[in-house]
Formats: sequence, C-alpha cells, structure tokens
Amino acid sequence: MSLFRTKSIEESLAASHEEGHSLRRRLSALDLTVFGIGVIIGAGIFTVTGRAAKDYAGPSIVLSFVLGAVACALAALCYAEFASTVPVSGSAYTFSYATLGEIVAWIIGWDLLLELMLGASVVAQGWSQYLITFLTQVGVTWPASVGPGSHFDLAAFLLVGALAALVAKGIKESLRVNLALVALKLLIVLFVIFAGISFVNTANWSPFIPPSAPGGATASGLTTPLLQVLTGMTPATYGVMGIMAGASIVFFAYIGFDVVATTAEEANNPQRDLPIGIIASLAICTVLYVAVALVLTGMQKYSDIDSKAALATAFTHVGRDGFATLISAGAVAGLTTVVMTLLIGAVRVVFAMSRDRLLPERLSRTSERTGTPISLTLIIGTTVALIASLTPIGKLEEMVNIGTLTAFMLVSLAVPMLRRSRPDLHRSFRVPGSPVVPILSALVCFYLVLNLSIETWIRFIVWMALGFVVYFAYSRHHSRLAGRDEVRQPALDVKGP
Ligand code: ALA
Repeated sequence: MSLFRTKSIEESLAASHEEGHSLRRRLSALDLTVFGIGVIIGAGIFTVTGRAAKDYAGPSIVLSFVLGAVACALAALCYAEFASTVPVSGSAYTFSYATLGEIVAWIIGWDLLLELMLGASVVAQGWSQYLITFLTQVGVTWPASVGPGSHFDLAAFLLVGALAALVAKGIKESLRVNLALVALKLLIVLFVIFAGISFVNTANWSPFIPPSAPGGATASGLTTPLLQVLTGMTPATYGVMGIMAGASIVFFAYIGFDVVATTAEEANNPQRDLPIGIIASLAICTVLYVAVALVLTGMQKYSDIDSKAALATAFTHVGRDGFATLISAGAVAGLTTVVMTLLIGAVRVVFAMSRDRLLPERLSRTSERTGTPISLTLIIGTTVALIASLTPIGKLEEMVNIGTLTAFMLVSLAVPMLRRSRPDLHRSFRVPGSPVVPILSALVCFYLVLNLSIETWIRFIVWMALGFVVYFAYSRHHSRLAGRDEVRQPALDVKGP
C-alpha cells in the first residue's frame, strides 16, 4: 500500500513555506505567458516542422499541428485546474503526489526530468546548428572539429553553461532577458509568415495529403511507428497515418506550456494567473504554428524542404538570402530562451522531488542571497551541457515527446480523481465537462504515444526501468512519507486483535 501513499495538498503547501526551502513569489500573469511562449516556440517550429513535413505528412503537416494542438489544449485545461488547486513547485509531479500516490508521482517526476533535460539538450543542439549556419552566412568559419555533429559540440556546451549561471543568479533576472528574446522571436515568426505569404505557390499544396506510400525513411525497422506494427499494417509513410505520426512528432513544438506550472510557487497569484499563463501561451503558439506550416509548405514542394534549417532555407530557395540570414539570427535568439526555460523547469522538478526526500534533500537548499537553489542549478546545467555536447543530433526529440505525453496522460486522469477525493478544495479554474474531457485528453495523448517509433519505446522503457531501480533502492526509504508509515504502523497494531 505504501507505494500509493499520498502527500496531502496541505502538506505540499506547508512544505513550500519551509525556511530555507522556499522560492520567492514575484511573477505576474504576463510574466507567466511570456515564460510560456519563451519555452514553447523553439526547435519545434524552426527545425522539427520541416523534417516532419518532408518525411511524414507533406502539406498536411498543418493538420498534424491542429491535432497536436487539440491534444495539448485538452491537457492544458487539466494542468490549469491542477495548478490552480495545488499551487506549489514541481507541476505534474506535485499534483500526482497528492492524488495518485508516491509511485505515480515518482514516475511522473522521472518522466518530467526526461522531458526537460533532454528537451534542453535537443534545443541546445539546434541552437548550435543555427549559430553555425548564421556564422557561415556572415562569413565566419567555426572549426568543424568542435561544431554540431562532431564529437564535442562546443557551442552547445557553452550556451548551456552560461544559461545555467544566469538561472542560478535568480529567476526574475532570467525572465528579463527572456522578455527581450521572446519579443524578438515573435517578430521573426511573424516575419516568416508575412514575408513568406507572397512566395506561396498554391500548386505546392497539392496533393494536400500525399498518398500513403509503403516503406520510406520513417517506416522501416525500428523507426516504424508502434501503432503500425500493433495493427499489423504494412509500414507506410504519408497518407492519413502520416498525419497522425506527424502529430506525434510536431507535438514537440508545443511542449513548454506545462513548464509554466512548475513555477507555481513563484507566481504572485497562482490560482488566477497560472491558468491564464498556460492557456494564453498555448493559444498564441497554435495560431502561429498553423500559419508557419501553411507558408512553409506553400513556398516549397514538401519533398524539397531542408530538414535542418527549413525556415531559413525556404527563403534561400526563393532567392532571398538576406531574409534567410535574418531568420537564422532570430532562431539563435529564440532557441536561447527555450533552453533556459527548460533548464528552469528541470531544476524546479528536482527541487520538489528532493524537498520530499525522494532525491537527496540537500539538493533543495536555496541560497539566502538569490532565493534560488544554486548548487542544484549548476548540477543540472552541467549534466545538460554534457548531454547536449556529447550525444549525436536528431534522435532525442521523440524521447522528449514520449516522456511528456505520458505525464499528460497521468495528469489528465488525476483531475477527476482529485475531484472525487477532495471535493472541498478551492478550484479557481475547473475543466469544463469533467470527467469526459480529462478522459478524452488521456486517450488522445495515448493515441499520439502509439504513433511514436519502436526505438523510442525501447529507450523509454529502459529509462523508466532505471527510474524504478532508483526509487526502490533509495527514494522509497528516504521519502518524507516513509517516517510517517513507521509511526502509523504501531498504531494499527495496537488496534489489531
Ligand atoms: N516546444 C519547444 C520547442 O519547440 C520544446 O523547442
């Protein structure tokens, strides 16, 4: 039973006020929306979209984006309700600790670590690719021996190191930098849309859904989506299944609105501002993504799209090299904020887990001077810097997606459960149509997970197995709740026969 022991909402709230383990409240609804957009718009739209259009769905990648947005909107409603009910650091991890029990909370926390740390690494690698593209465009040569795709990606390493230092210094300072970069990033995305419209050739949109073709880059061996294997289909690319597989890939572009919920303890008025921050940032990004996807597939035949720097290259293709340079520069600025925000999210999740002693408690010590957990930030920063600089480019996005979608499913299911177990709690935001909407949310996420490749499933299972080893070897015994079990046990014995 103790696997499913829960930490009450009151305990979570009390822990967040503990001396030396609490974060300062200084973020407004606007800060949170900016924070959300800062992490959402990133490598997803700048790089993954091009690859997904080319390899999975053609122009119908637009429909993949709509499907991804539906999944995220449903999950966002569930996140918003939870964040408005349990406004403490740690997001989905904390929510599930209060409802589904410790083991589920551990699984989600472990999942979120995967999402946030690998997400930051993937985007840092993308940043480095755009930086080198930009430098090349302005005539500067970066040594290939320490460039993206080499044994050691120096630029990615330096970026993560510098951002970790900034985050350790204090979240408000980081958000100020974030605000300037987010504004620039929005301008670049709008620029792509409005400058690109005049180069759209509607012939490129036809066929809008390319006919399903057996085999192809995304449908052989371990790269086949699991669903195609389970249903005994001949593995194929494009067609309706391509739209679905595309949705499970471009889902990466939406990741980040959930990270807003990890800052709950730093929001001035979390019950009101978190739902606003989560839903507003997701809505703005959805509109922009659908527009970019339409313009991109209209400017170039999908089969000609460059899978690395699709947005910049589309302009080179129509003879606008200057625009391409500008977009590369904007991508460099834009991806910076994503890496930083994902780092902040990873720190917050480990912070919450170590405060509950599922990980060593000293990790959650905050500095009196900055109000931030400095050593934890530096440990996470170094780990991400090493992953980003040493692992090969291109395979990790799907891992991020599977981790995130799993967390979304669990959070969605937790909403109706918490309503039943704690109807008394004040909820300033409520998911309309519960339990139907939360269950639908979990089902849509599950469907997307099934569309991820077999190799991603295998890696994910290995990561989760590692998580169980850590849990049973360490966390279960050190948990704050472990002591409580011992105290309760004798009391039960006394009452026994
Ligand atoms: N949504 C983020 C991106 O696109 C993770 O980079």
